[in-house]
Amino acid sequence: MANFVAGVHVAGWGAYAPSQVLTNADLERMVDTSDEWIVTRTGIRERRIAGPGETTASMATVAALRAIAVAGLDSNDIDLIIVGTLTPDYLLPSAATLVKQAIGNTRAAAMDLAAACSGFVYGYGVAHAYVSSGMARHALVVGSETMSRCTDFTDRGTCVLFGDGAGAAVLSASDEPGGAVGIELTTDTAATYSIWIPGGGGARPASTAMLASREQYMRMRGGETFKLAVRKLGSTAMAALAKAGWSLDDVDLVVPHQANSRIVDALAKSIGFPMDRIFVNIDRYGNTSAASVPIALTEAVAAGRIKQGDRIVLVAFGAGGTSGAIALQWTADPANQKRAESIDADSVKIATPDIEPANPFPPALEWLLSGTAPARATTDSGTE
Ligand SMILES: CC(C)(COP(=O)(O)OP(=O)(O)OC[C@H]1O[C@@H](n2cnc3c(N)ncnc32)[C@H](O)[C@@H]1OP(=O)(O)O)[C@@H](O)C(=O)NCCC(=O)NCCS
Repeated sequence: MANFVAGVHVAGWGAYAPSQVLTNADLERMVDTSDEWIVTRTGIRERRIAGPGETTASMATVAALRAIAVAGLDSNDIDLIIVGTLTPDYLLPSAATLVKQAIGNTRAAAMDLAAACSGFVYGYGVAHAYVSSGMARHALVVGSETMSRCTDFTDRGTCVLFGDGAGAAVLSASDEPGGAVGIELTTDTAATYSIWIPGGGGARPASTAMLASREQYMRMRGGETFKLAVRKLGSTAMAALAKAGWSLDDVDLVVPHQANSRIVDALAKSIGFPMDRIFVNIDRYGNTSAASVPIALTEAVAAGRIKQGDRIVLVAFGAGGTSGAIALQWTADPANQKRAESIDADSVKIATPDIEPANPFPPALEWLLSGTAPARATTDSGTE
């Protein structure tokens, strides 16, 4: 890749997961499913749910402040803010604008990026282009999602899969080589409507009829998505490796999008890569969409799975057939992660508009807060 700087490095990283846990046992009380089915078909045991006072922007801000602290920077050092998300607080303004305001940055360009579960990896690719071309010196890339707010908790085919959370990275220009050396971003239109939210956009705006037919919730063709995910994760990772001039033997760790542990198993088999060099944390978070790769990356560093000099591949697949992979050489000192220890959700204040406050917590999960088990919903066989 032609760079105007010697390297664009991951200088900071961070993640945030809300404290409310939704277990498989909780879901057994809501739809016709079982812990055994969910664990064997997906590897998921529990996922996190954003609280009534939390949004995509608030979680993104915690992860962002942690990443900026780990990088040893001030918020105002950031020149570009990209938030990958399919669940922004509002259609307007962008979540990135809210994050910029909440971190106290006055300088950066700020924008959301819509590439579903590939949102962070796509954001990484765009930020790399900005920094390597000299248009930005420090870029903040965030993946943040409140999936619980577009999930149909009567649809057992989707509601067991998704969770909430945020992760972030700061990419910085450097005179030293390192950072991303192979980037592949692609979109396969064969999967355009494999996962979609029909209502609420310009084609099917909010209306009582739209809400009555539950079009505000995500729909998915699971089997079709599974097969395409395995194929695209493999081909995209291999394309990034080819651009880097690396072989699979050169790679110390793959950090994939956490969609389903069986997708990760199938990916490992399809490209002939050992599972012990693939990072998996889906059991505790489910699929957090754009947040999954940066949460996994942050946990991999904290767990000692990433060391200075390691060669890492980040790879994701998402709705709309998006997929992306980054082959990068890690240069930052993992010990810098302790710089973020004092940053928690209380450090964050999102500017609110002058409008009647709403409780965004999913009504189907209110029982978790009160502890009163619900009557189980009747459900069809799940995916459309
Ligand atoms: C959704 C997914 C877990 C379903 O697993 P699967 O092995 O493909 O299961 P199928 O869709 O073939 O369904 C098998 C049966 O389980 C049922 N089932 C679906 N969800 C269920 C649940 N939560 N609990 C119990 N049974 C369930 C189906 O209704 C079906 O029943 P039937 O045979 O009586 O019709 C799997 O297809 C998947 O993970 N797909 C990819 C999803 C994804 O990652 N999306 C995001 C990509 S970024």
